[in-house]
Parts: sequence; structure tokens; C-alpha cells
Amino acid sequence: MTDYTWPQDRRVTVRDLQVATDRGERWAMLTSYDALTAGVFERAGVRALLVGDTAALMVYGHDSTLPVTMDQLVPLVQAVVRGTRSALVVADLPLGAYQASPQQAFDNAVRHLKEGGAQAVKLEGGEAVLPQVRTLVQAGIPVMGHLGLTPQSEHALGGTRRVQGRGDAGERLLEDAVALQEAGAFAVVLEAIPAELGTRVSRELSVPTVGIGAGAGCDAQILVWQDLAGLTTGHVPRFVKRYADLDDVLTRAVATYVNEVAEGAYPAPEHSYA
Ligand code: KIV
Repeated sequence: MTDYTWPQDRRVTVRDLQVATDRGERWAMLTSYDALTAGVFERAGVRALLVGDTAALMVYGHDSTLPVTMDQLVPLVQAVVRGTRSALVVADLPLGAYQASPQQAFDNAVRHLKEGGAQAVKLEGGEAVLPQVRTLVQAGIPVMGHLGLTPQSEHALGGTRRVQGRGDAGERLLEDAVALQEAGAFAVVLEAIPAELGTRVSRELSVPTVGIGAGAGCDAQILVWQDLAGLTTGHVPRFVKRYADLDDVLTRAVATYVNEVAEGAYPAPEHSYA
């Protein structure tokens, strides 16, 4: 921990993230999809929130990130922006919102900033998306890259449970990371890669690396908040640490409510108007 003074009276900027990283401070990101919990995360010290395309799973109930659209993400970005005062809000560009051309990436990134109120966007991929990254950066839109396990390519990668970047693929990932930095990306997410590669990429880059299953050598970390809070059930990746068991807490609370309604114990006189 260093003595970087994070802003309280304005939003964190990409420059703040760079300065904090340069000073050796490790900062935390979380995904976020609604106003209320976004405010909680900000008060708990999360400096940057990602309205991720994982909203497809966490909000809309799909089993992959592929179905979510810009029209579904923009209202979530608006909610997270409304619910926060100081966190940097990064909005994900979903599958089909940027791959076709730099113009398409520009149009959708502008939607996230103008309609959503986000301060930055994230997109997946390396060499193939460099023209998009350059176009956005030249237009003054901060871009976060995303390498390693890129869930939008799950069909090409053979699923979302395979560790990426082993062997020669690690060298290509390193080249992609450097290319993203040179194209102007302000940070790069590294997902599900060997810890040693995460450390190597982090040492090579001057912009912050944000790890999710990329080991302790990254400059920052990100998790899907429902994973961290123990709200997701079934398979969770090895890199997830569950800091709470919200599934249990909520299930108990709701079951108690259901029982009290059935027994007539709720509402009690103090919950009723005279
Ligand atoms: O969409 C998302 O939530 C993400 C994070 C898991 C990095 O891309």
C-alpha cells in the first residue's frame, strides 16, 4: 500500500490509475450493473467499475456473454454512473459492437459516453482490434484492452474454462499487450493466463494490467461482484475468492419473510399504519 491520495470530490480518471500504478499501489476493480451496489462498491474503496458484458449472465440470465446488446448495456451504464460519484466507470463493448470496423467501434463507444455517461470503454482482442483502439484513442475515448480468455470468442477458444497463453501463445499475448499499449490503451485486462505470464506482461507494460486469474503480479485486479460476494452458484473459476456467502444470507432472509407471511407474523403492528 502506498500513499496515493485518491480523489474524493471528482471521478477517478485514467491518469489517476496510471499515477497510482507508477507509485506501486495495487488497486481493485469490480464489475457493476446497478446504482445501489455501485454506490456500495465505491464506498468500499473500489476505484474503477466495469459495466461488463457479463451482464448477459449476471443481469439477463444468459449462459454466456454473447447475447447482450448495446441497447441492454447502456441503461446499466447509466444506472452505475448515477449511483456513483468518484469511481471511474468503464463500459464494455459487447460482441458485434466493434469488430466490424473502427467506425462501428466509434459509434458504440460514443453511445456509452454520451448516453451512458461512462468515462472509458473496454473491448476484447489484440492485433485484430488495433485500428479500433487507435480510432477511439484519437477521438479522446479512453480504451481498456482485454487479452487471454476473451469470452466473446468462446466458440473459437473452445469454451470459457481453458487457461490461455501457455507456450507460444504466451509470446503472442505479450506482443498483443505491447501493441495495445502502443495503440493508446490506458490499461489491459489479463484473464485466465498463467501467473508467470501475468507478471511478465505487467513488467513489460507501463500501463496498468488488470488481472482476473492472471496472478498476483498484475497491477490491479478485477472480479465479477456476484462471484466475490458468493451469489453465483455452480461452477466458479479457480481464480474466484468468495468473500461472503450472499446466496445463503439472501435465501435465509427471504425464507424467513415467506414463513412470517404464511404465519401472519409479518406485517406486525409496527409495520402497519394506524
Ligand atoms: O465483462 C466482464 O465482466 C469482464 C470482466 C470479467 C473482466 O470482462
